Amino acid sequence: MTGTRARQPNSSLPRRSRVAGSAGLFGTGAAAALAILAIFGSPAAAEEDISILAGSCANCHGPEGRSPGAIPTIAGKTQAVLKAHMEGFRAGEPADATVMPRLMSAYSDEEIDALARWFSEVKP
Ligand code: HEC
Repeated sequence: MTGTRARQPNSSLPRRSRVAGSAGLFGTGAAAALAILAIFGSPAAAEEDISILAGSCANCHGPEGRSPGAIPTIAGKTQAVLKAHMEGFRAGEPADATVMPRLMSAYSDEEIDALARWFSEVKP
């Protein structure tokens, strides 16, 4: 009689497959949420890009490029002047520049254009 007990079917099997089923549902929900983020998240992010990049200049050049110290103010200079400075730094000029060549080496032509426009439109 003891042998009958040992042969009882494993009752946990159906339960395990139910858990797998609900995990599948959660997976679908997460994928849908990501798709919604992809649709609604990207246009706003693209619009904010330049102000985010410009914000990274504030540590040294002051809020919106108005410098309170020895580092030059870049707010309100003409777009052409700003662009020429930035492209110069990226090309390694002037030779005594300190941080700007390293920073500008990471920026594309489009980003330099956009940054030059952004700072040219700020009131000095
Ligand atoms: C870590 C500090 C630092 C950061 C961050 C920084 N700069 Fe500069 N910037 C300088 C210094 C210092 C100079 C003077 C040149 C040099 O030594 O590299 C300068 C010079 C400049 C000049 C030339 C100004 C002039 O009239 O001579 C421009 C334009 C400029 N930076 C733009 C930017 C922009 C745009 C950003 C952000 C993308 C930025 N900088 C971020 C430190 C910084």
